[in-house]
Amino acid sequence: MVGNRAIAYVGPKKVEVQKLDYPKLIDPRGNKCDHGVIVKLVTTNICGSDLHIYRGRFQAPKGMVLGHENTGEVVEVGHDVAFIKKGDLVSVPFNVACGRCRNCRERHTEVCETTNPEVACGAYGFNLGGWQGGQADYMMVPYADFQLLKFPDKDQAMAKIRDLTLLSDILPTAYHGCMEAGVRTGSSVYIAGAGPVGRCAAACARLLGASCIIVGDSIKARLELVKKAGYEVVDTSKKTPLADQVEAVFGNREVDCGVDCVGYEAHGYGPSGGEDPAAVINGLFQVVRAPAGMGVLGVYSPADPGAKTKEAKEGKLGVDFGKEWIKSPSLTAGQCPVMKYNRDLMMAILWGRMDYLSEVTNVEFIPLEKAPEAYHVFDEGSPKKFVIDPHGSVRK
Ligand SMILES: NC(=O)c1ccc[n+]([C@@H]2O[C@H](COP(=O)([O-])OP(=O)(O)OC[C@H]3O[C@@H](n4cnc5c(N)ncnc54)[C@H](O)[C@@H]3O)[C@@H](O)[C@H]2O)c1
Ligand SMILES: [Zn+2]
Ligand SMILES: [Zn+2]
Repeated sequence: MVGNRAIAYVGPKKVEVQKLDYPKLIDPRGNKCDHGVIVKLVTTNICGSDLHIYRGRFQAPKGMVLGHENTGEVVEVGHDVAFIKKGDLVSVPFNVACGRCRNCRERHTEVCETTNPEVACGAYGFNLGGWQGGQADYMMVPYADFQLLKFPDKDQAMAKIRDLTLLSDILPTAYHGCMEAGVRTGSSVYIAGAGPVGRCAAACARLLGASCIIVGDSIKARLELVKKAGYEVVDTSKKTPLADQVEAVFGNREVDCGVDCVGYEAHGYGPSGGEDPAAVINGLFQVVRAPAGMGVLGVYSPADPGAKTKEAKEGKLGVDFGKEWIKSPSLTAGQCPVMKYNRDLMMAILWGRMDYLSEVTNVEFIPLEKAPEAYHVFDEGSPKKFVIDPHGSVRK
């Protein structure tokens, strides 16, 4: 009998490899999923969103299996699945979406109304609907015909798996942030955060034809990687205020578009900038010119047990809205509807239009047993994007 090893959250800063049963075509509420498939994971990435859970800052039950950035081979197919076949290599969008509700039908798969009984939003390996994560050997994916993106050719896809593994979340997410911020040919852009999402956003801004692309962070190794790949950087831990640093690079204190790739665990600016959950949104308000287009990809949470103030614990932010309202800001926030972009980005990768992506993402493939160590190193600010390869499909 085939088992299933998985990475489970067991408490703040603690994840471990656990042995589970092989998954069944059954949803978290016990209903049969004839529309589902079992996927053998080929790659499953560790994300900054997992770090919110890892740090105990996003509430999740102990024992929850992590992993929402999943790519794999279909090994079992439910009776009602018509198009996906056994043996297909597929990218699994991190949103769990039914394809049947009003929001799914309107292409808002990030707010599917049926896959989580508590709130309109389902995701694997998150406390959003109870769906088992994919940092494992095997996982169940419901609504397979609707959700899965099949790669046209397996060998071609495996040759580009370093980039294609990012289609389940951070590449479409970064692209969505740029689109919502209004990035187009010639735009100047400020991207807050040089984590994997911010680094993907820099590459997406380039794909969209942006001119000056500035990435801000305080972690030197991440900034160096971004600079080496040909983008501009600012160091948010410097004494020099953010707008002055933007001016030093761009010749103007304001850029056209801003993308938040940080979220509520943000640090303030300057050498002693402690935690400030509104720092990034307020920073974008300052450095994005009117009419200010902003894509807020960074996660914000209604409850943050580790926050410093009572307001922050309840997810209430000190956003400078009165002062900045005059800029006609338009701000899109929330999870990315991955299916809106993943096919187009897959084609861009397969046809060599994003060959510069891997330089800035800095993917490292690791075996499943190394995941607990990778969580620790990633949390410390490593400039890598760790991708678990549970079956040794990539690391031959
Ligand atoms: N909306 C979505 O669908 C979606 C999808 C994936 C990830 N996310 C979120 O995107 C965010 C980034 O993900 P990641 O994997 O890159 O995480 P990460 O934790 O690796 O990176 C965040 C970076 O932000 C930096 N930072 C902190 N304060 C800052 C500030 N004031 N200005 C600039 N940089 C600052 C940190 O030093 C860190 O390098 C997370 O909140 C993650 O949950 C959202
Ligand atoms: Zn993610
Ligand atoms: Zn739906």
